[in-house]
Amino acid sequence: MSSTGYPPQHVAITMDGNGRWANERGLPRMAGHKAGGDNIRPVANMFSEHGVKYLTLYAFSTENWSRPGSEVSGLLGLLEQKIDRETQAFHHDNVRLIHLGRTDRLSEGIARKVKQAVDLTGNNTGLTLCLAFDYGGRDEIVRATRRIVTAGLPPDGLDEALFARYLDGPGIPDPDLLIRTGGESRLSNFLLWQVAYSELHFTPVLWPDFGATEIEEALSEYRTRQRRFGGV
Ligand code: FPP
Repeated sequence: MSSTGYPPQHVAITMDGNGRWANERGLPRMAGHKAGGDNIRPVANMFSEHGVKYLTLYAFSTENWSRPGSEVSGLLGLLEQKIDRETQAFHHDNVRLIHLGRTDRLSEGIARKVKQAVDLTGNNTGLTLCLAFDYGGRDEIVRATRRIVTAGLPPDGLDEALFARYLDGPGIPDPDLLIRTGGESRLSNFLLWQVAYSELHFTPVLWPDFGATEIEEALSEYRTRQRRFGGV
């Protein structure tokens, strides 16, 4: 379920525009992803300072495997580097790290590092930072359904609350606010189940440039929204 009131309890972000950011500077696309990756900790800290408890970031979609091999391996390398270099810092900041998505297509080494980072920070009580990597909303729903069938749950007992428990990140409230940077206005298979009643905020600012000003803008726009959840 989503919360009401201010600040939003859970903010989700589609971090779009890294490629264009690099292109505008005459740099290779990977330089944009690196700048985007470097923006994660500062943005996480700023949202946390605003009172946000959960932040979910879309880092690699199930569709992103179709990008050129060099970009895919660059993004996987960046994920590994981030875990190696920043897990301790997140742990020190009392951040709880969660992974959303599949691990069966990651290398054994990366999958193990993801699990270690999640285990290490599992009891932290500050911001919960969910990183969606090899994540797709439809894929998540299919995997949840598969688990439910495998568990042999009787069809009559299945309702929305029970179904949600089989999704990735059980116990995490639905996003109150979904932000997409980079100027496109679409969901792109992100958290399809969970965003049923999220407020949407689209900004043309490219992800590596998304900072304090844009966060304040998104939060103050959110503050003006009247959330009725289908009621009156
Ligand atoms: C979209 O920009 C961004 C991505 C597909 C990757 C997001 C990744 C990061 C922010 C950094 C990496 C972080 C980790 C943890 C691996 P785009 O490439 O589609 O940009 P464009 O639309 O301008 O081409």
